[in-house]
Amino acid sequence: MILLDGKVASAALLEFLKPMVETLNPKLVVVQVGNDPASASYIKQKVKSCEAVGMRHEHVHLDEGITLESLMETISRLNSDEDVTGFFVQLPLPKHLQGNEPDIIKAIDPKKDIDGFGAYNLGKLFLSKEFEHLPPATPAGIIRLLEHFDIEIAGKHAVVIGRSNTVGKPVAIMLLNRNATVSICHSKTQGLEDIVRQADIVIAAVGKPKMITADMVKEGAVVVDVGIHRTDEGLCGDTDFDALKDKVSAISPVPGGVGPMTVASLIRNCVTAKERQIGVRD
Ligand SMILES: NC(=O)c1ccc[n+]([C@@H]2O[C@H](COP(=O)([O-])OP(=O)(O)OC[C@H]3O[C@@H](n4cnc5c(N)ncnc54)[C@H](OP(=O)(O)O)[C@@H]3O)[C@@H](O)[C@H]2O)c1
Repeated sequence: MILLDGKVASAALLEFLKPMVETLNPKLVVVQVGNDPASASYIKQKVKSCEAVGMRHEHVHLDEGITLESLMETISRLNSDEDVTGFFVQLPLPKHLQGNEPDIIKAIDPKKDIDGFGAYNLGKLFLSKEFEHLPPATPAGIIRLLEHFDIEIAGKHAVVIGRSNTVGKPVAIMLLNRNATVSICHSKTQGLEDIVRQADIVIAAVGKPKMITADMVKEGAVVVDVGIHRTDEGLCGDTDFDALKDKVSAISPVPGGVGPMTVASLIRNCVTAKERQIGVRD
């Protein structure tokens, strides 16, 4: 069984990016609103990776009760600041702003949208692999994880469980761009177990602890677990790792699988954004 170790694959990606960061000198800005503890921990990891590659970074920490107008002013300032290569607003936002998330994402200049959540960058994914310029970081991390461990995608049946705009849908399109045959499952899917059992590659992005059990996965399948849950027994993913590890040919752990790949992909997007801004890349 191959352990799809995101710490190893992300370290390799960051090492690859280091000389590019040195030459291009991009700057990444994190916008945090409020004090959500999970967000604070994700931001810490992102800042750590910036430091690992020597990328300039700034943490804009806004008050929990900030108005939409003030947040939009911050976004507008970052859009027009030529020294800022890329930025993102860490989600989830405080309750009073959650309904405005689409407008907030829309307000970010697509050239600086390193989370890749905006319609422009998501739309480009649909064209082809060559147009995946600023893909959402988690789907990009999943693909990179599979590629790092030489997992063949073309011709395989990939089943993605989850259809969120940030994970499920874009990763499905990126797998399709690499010639997988893709099924996308969601909460209204009928016969989920039977569909998952047909998969050569399972992408579990469902947000339910250990929902994907060993009897749902065929012998020798590749499993990427995107979920992350804090339970009384510690962190776990959307799959039952212990039960699956002796049945599959490859599986990603939680923690240490997709998480570090997401962070490294965000850094990669910032490098790509800079290359495109200065015209050294199409
Ligand atoms: N490691 C990382 O870097 C990283 C990054 C992002 C997210 N995550 C984790 O990944 C997981 C998914 O994230 P997300 O943002 O995509 O979650 P989400 O927006 O909550 O989407 C969950 C998806 O799963 C589907 N679903 C829910 N219950 C289901 C069921 N019983 N059967 C089949 N499908 C079901 C939902 O279907 P409907 O559309 O029909 O509601 C939805 O499409 C979460 O655990 C999240 O914390 C990890």
